[in-house]
Amino acid sequence: MSEARRKLVVGNWKMHGSHAANEQLLEGLRAAGPLPADAAVCVPFPYLAQAAERLARTALQWGSQDCSAHEQGAYTGEVSAAMLADFGCRYAIVGHSERRALHAEGDQLVADKAQAALARGVTPIVCVGETLTQREAGETEAVVKRQLSAVIHTLAHCAGEMVVAYEPVWAIGTGRTATPEQAQAVHALLRAQLRAATPRADQMRLLYGGSVKPDNAASLFAQPDIDGGLIGGASLKAQDFLAICRAAVR
Ligand code: 13P
Repeated sequence: MSEARRKLVVGNWKMHGSHAANEQLLEGLRAAGPLPADAAVCVPFPYLAQAAERLARTALQWGSQDCSAHEQGAYTGEVSAAMLADFGCRYAIVGHSERRALHAEGDQLVADKAQAALARGVTPIVCVGETLTQREAGETEAVVKRQLSAVIHTLAHCAGEMVVAYEPVWAIGTGRTATPEQAQAVHALLRAQLRAATPRADQMRLLYGGSVKPDNAASLFAQPDIDGGLIGGASLKAQDFLAICRAAVR
């Protein structure tokens, strides 16, 4: 079953970069030869055109870190899925824990964003994950299932088109990565939930995110239900990001 899933490694640059710094980073990525995984970088909105230009005719794809739930209109500061599609975006991260926490994004809004992206042919990368307090209270399963359930219900028969990223909040930017076993346990739960919802569950890619580095990527990616990674800090260095892509051996 898992043999059918090609790994996917996505860089989330977050709010980092400048035109000049991106030139260097993108040049480093362009220089990569063939990779054993699909790979993409999700860049800040103002740099989408730069990524599109620099990564054209390479195997690397690009995406955004968010997307409006609305199609168009009086939504100052928002960026629609149609605009992303205009720039050749392949992916849009939605529901990242930083947006859930810092911008009060709830499960339904995240689901609506995922639907808006899909409607324009942009694949949503839907993030779920528990906080440390929730994990310690034994609530991990309930939290991630609730977060995913909202998206499954909203996308309905299209649920199989999304990418899901499990990102335990306590592992993001902390250097404290989930063990491969901890991550696999949650991925298996998510896969089971998806199987009940869509016949495509076994083809869907479930990414792990949270302090993935070149030295821990291979053991995470070796887990049966971990189909790649969503990479923060390490995606800002071309060599590290490419090393993580190369850790995806199947
Ligand atoms: P780090 O890899 O820096 O922990 O970030 C993970 C993340 O939030 C990716 O979306």
